[in-house]
Parts: sequence; structure tokens; C-alpha cells
Amino acid sequence: MRLERWNMGKWNRSALAVAKSIVRFSNRKLEGYGLELLRRKRPYDEDGLASYHSHDFMEDDRFLQAYRRGIKACNEDYHFHWRVHVALWAAQYCLSLDGDFVECGVNRGVLSSSIMDFLRWNSTGRRFFLFDTFCGLDARYAHADELHTMPQYAECYGAANANFAEFQNVFLIRGPVPDTLSQAAIDTVCYLSIDMNCAIPEVAAAEFFWDRLSDGGLVLLDDYGYAGHRRQKDALDEFATARAVQILSLPTGQGLIIKPPTRGKNIAR
Ligand SMILES: C[S@@+](CC[C@H](N)C(=O)[O-])C[C@H]1O[C@@H](n2cnc3c(N)ncnc32)[C@H](O)[C@@H]1O
Repeated sequence: MRLERWNMGKWNRSALAVAKSIVRFSNRKLEGYGLELLRRKRPYDEDGLASYHSHDFMEDDRFLQAYRRGIKACNEDYHFHWRVHVALWAAQYCLSLDGDFVECGVNRGVLSSSIMDFLRWNSTGRRFFLFDTFCGLDARYAHADELHTMPQYAECYGAANANFAEFQNVFLIRGPVPDTLSQAAIDTVCYLSIDMNCAIPEVAAAEFFWDRLSDGGLVLLDDYGYAGHRRQKDALDEFATARAVQILSLPTGQGLIIKPPTRGKNIAR
């Protein structure tokens, strides 16, 4: 009996050793062909983006908490983790610059409340200005082919107000952009998020805030390369070209502009 067990044990050990060599061999082969990604567990696949690349941020507790807080704004998960990850990264970076945070196109505040949670907003001492009609696109500032998103955005001012109640120094500016842009006394902006689903007010907001943007400040364009938003992309490309900057097209569909520091500034003499 003992002998049989010993024999079985020996057999198991040999089988295990053979299996391990097969795994090592196939791993080496897979890596050789650049296919090590086949061994990864779950690829990212949502919001028009599929990738085997690392999306470790989806396992980060602070990220997940902020993401969940954003969703709470509208009680619906848009399944757009990577877009939120980009926005949180951008907002965190902007804390290193002087200025206010601005979002044009807020709705109930998924992105912005996610940012506020992530940055522990009440401890930052910053101001966040939120521009929206809070009742959808304004036909005077939208092309006919952009108005199809209109039914999605019903009256939501009360809901947005309630969503931001826990955060200090948050200002909801109600009305159509561009009419409302000068209503808030904003001198310097470090973070500008633009997400109005239509070209005219998006370009107007970019133009209005560009000179107020800190050196190194960011403009995050939510729909820039997103499928079905060509008109916004073309208009914002024109805006960028006129200012000799390039928009970074992100695989999430977002666009990112970094305002270059003024030449000669910050150079030690
Ligand atoms: C895609 S939603 C914004 C989503 C938001 N960023 C979030 O994280 O939930 C687009 C918003 O832009 C607003 N909007 C569209 N045109 C506008 C305009 N001319 N002025 C102000 N807001 C506008 C709509 O009311 C709508 O709430």
C-alpha cells in the first residue's frame, strides 16, 4: 500500500514536471510571437474600446469608489471606465496648477462628481464651475444633425443640484453656452472639460477659456474622436490649428489639449 502511494506520488511529480515544462515552453513561444496577451484574464471591452493592455485602474479602490460616486448621479452605469480614468488623471494633474475647474456640459454630473470624490473636493479649496442648460441642447446653437441626442437630456437642474449638495465651492451656471460664459467671475482655469455634444458651444467655450487657461492647463474633449461626433472634431481641430496646438486623440474617443507654457516663461536667468 505504502509502495503504491509512493509510486503514485512519483508519477504525479513527473507528470507535474512535464506539465510545467509544457507551460514554460508555450509561454516562451507565445511571448516570442508577442501573444503573451492571450494568457491575460479579461480584456477591456466597453464604450467602443477593446484592448488587452493593462487596465489595472479598474482594480484600484480609490478609482472604483470615484466611479461609483459618478454613477450615483444618474443611477446608470455607462460602462466607460477608461474615459473616467482619463478624466480623473487629468483632474488630479490639474491640482498641481493654479486655477478653477470648469465643465461645460454637465447634465446630472457623472464625470464631475466622480472627479470631486476622487480629489476629496472639499479639502482642495478649489472652485468648480458647471455650465449647462440642464435641459438639453439649445437648437439655436446646434446643427440639425446634432439635435438627435436631444431627447436624452430632459430637465435635470434639481437632480444636478442634489447630486452636488455634498460638495463645497461648486457653482451651477444654468443657461445656454455661449450666453452664460461671462456670468461667472473666472480669471484662471486649470481644468476645462467640454462635453456638450454639439460643435458651436464647444468651440465657443474653448475660445472663451483658452486665454484664461493656466500654462500647462488641460482641455478634455469628451466626444472629440467618438464615433458619430465628426462635426465636433472638425470644429475643434480648426480651433486647435488656429492656436498652433494639436489635440491628442485618445482611444477612448476623448481628445486632450495641453496648453503649452508661454515661451521664455519659467526659464531661470
Ligand atoms: C453628454 S451630456 C454631459 C454629460 C456630463 N459630462 C456627465 O458627465 O454626465 C451633454 C450636456 O450638454 C448640455 N448642453 C448641450 N448644449 C448646450 C449649450 N449650448 N449650453 C449648455 N449646455 C448644453 C446638455 O444639456 C447636456 O446636459
